[in-house]
Amino acid sequence: MKLWAGVLVLGLGVGVLGHSQETRVGASEMAVEDGPSYTADGQLKLPARYREWVYLTSGLDMSYNPKATAAGHSMFDNVFVNPAAYRAFLKTGTWPDKTVMVLENRGAESGSSINHRGQTQSSEVMGLEVHVKDASRLQGGWGFFGFDNGVSAKLIARPAECYTCHEAHAAVDTTFVQFYPTLRGVAKDKGTLSAAYLKEAGGK
Ligand code: HEC
Repeated sequence: MKLWAGVLVLGLGVGVLGHSQETRVGASEMAVEDGPSYTADGQLKLPARYREWVYLTSGLDMSYNPKATAAGHSMFDNVFVNPAAYRAFLKTGTWPDKTVMVLENRGAESGSSINHRGQTQSSEVMGLEVHVKDASRLQGGWGFFGFDNGVSAKLIARPAECYTCHEAHAAVDTTFVQFYPTLRGVAKDKGTLSAAYLKEAGGK
């Protein structure tokens, strides 16, 4: 009799587990996409919820995007990375395959606050560029994508100045980790700063 009761409890337990698994699948469908995804013709889809990814920096007037600077106004750029890649970077000091980094440009606006000297960011996004690490698709492991619409973008083909500048001056694996305050120290500790960057920075 006792044995049967045990089986019954076990049965109930399995039932509960099964149910919680279903809930978990449901939750992962809701989860923020984490990694690159492409259209059938090979364009990168804009990660729709990149604003829920890990924030790396806001640069002011760092943009090399002519469209972003043409207005003659100051421009902020905000950089985000997918959470799985961020966690891997904290462990290793470099980026895993399927890293996606988003650079978003917004105009600097003054006079919008009671603090007259201060500058805030425009609601309008003035430019969106994405840097993807995907060894199975991209020559050299990494590719750049410039979004003219908020939907999908073609790969910027090599040679292009995006590749030349990032390969020559970026501190870790063609990304500008020297300007990402939560990651710069990690790269230094793990010894992953590139030789070219160390030479350029004069040992700093
Ligand atoms: C002259 C150098 C230079 C050129 C050319 C350049 N970039 Fe960058 N890029 C930078 C710097 C510097 C940063 C760091 C921005 C910051 O700190 O706010 C950066 C950051 C980025 C990031 C954030 C992720 C990362 O790799 O660190 C993306 C995405 C990006 N650039 C895309 C592009 C694209 C697309 C092009 C070509 C259309 C381009 N860049 C051309 C210097 C450059």
